[in-house]
Amino acid sequence: MARITHGIACSHIPVLGYAFDHGKDGEDYFKPAFEGFDWTRQFMEEEKPDVIVLVYNDHASAFDMKIIPTFAIGTGEIYQPADEGFGARPVPPVEGHADLAWHIAQSLILDEFDMTIINEMEVDHGLTVPLSMMYGHVEKWPVKVIPLAVNVVTYPPPSGNRCWLLGEAIARAVESFPEDLKVQVWGTGGMSHQLQGPRAGLINKEWDNMFLDKLIGDTQDLRHIPHIEYLRETGSEGIEMVMWLIMRGALGKSTKALHRHYHVPVSNTALGHLVLEPVDGSVPPSPTLEGNNAAAQALI
Ligand code: DHB
Ligand code: FE
Repeated sequence: MARITHGIACSHIPVLGYAFDHGKDGEDYFKPAFEGFDWTRQFMEEEKPDVIVLVYNDHASAFDMKIIPTFAIGTGEIYQPADEGFGARPVPPVEGHADLAWHIAQSLILDEFDMTIINEMEVDHGLTVPLSMMYGHVEKWPVKVIPLAVNVVTYPPPSGNRCWLLGEAIARAVESFPEDLKVQVWGTGGMSHQLQGPRAGLINKEWDNMFLDKLIGDTQDLRHIPHIEYLRETGSEGIEMVMWLIMRGALGKSTKALHRHYHVPVSNTALGHLVLEPVDGSVPPSPTLEGNNAAAQALI
């Protein structure tokens, strides 16, 4: 049986990708940001997950104003890094896990989450920067990745509660996959940041740390934060944090923190990073999944 072993949250600041690719991670400005990932790189080497369900947002690389999927899942075999204006990052292509991804897509849709299914796309800094932070320089990523893209760029993004519920549905999907796989769920983006307008550069350390605190343990407070609070307290791009709630929902009832890192400044963004382990990974049953599964089974 596949099982969710850990959840990881991590900002996906593009300049960290630039610093990493150009050997600047040891420079005074970047060093404290990167040092907070030393623990995690060691952990990943020991832990060796088989698959990551990597929740991220595309920044007008694979999608644009022509098509705006709220939730999309990558079911492809391979994803190339996108050229975001300065050439593609010199990192390895990202291998998918098509069998598990199709299984999750089916389970989510029968669980009444209407996912967009994507077989071909390129992946941008939202997905590749967290991989670099967690794995360092590699010839080949030592893990398969199922990209799960969320629209947080064009209004309206999904609510935090919907994201949490999607995470629970991902947990049900993973648990019903027969192969013995260690699966992590990552939530990327955030923390407080606003990249444009009069409030550009806004950082809210207190709010960010409240958010980190409440991802730990069994409180469900975060699922009820309205969009307007993210905008007001964390800037226009702070809304990326709803993606962390997909990760949190997938970890079930209660979590403990294995590692925590928060650092300002990096670019215009507060850098947050958390490694979580489920304490009680149970998620509520779906009102419809079992019946819809049985109906689907009858078709075969
Ligand atoms: C920055 C942060 C982001 O999350 C992003 O997608 C783009 C830019 C930044 O801090 O520069
Ligand atoms: Fe972003």
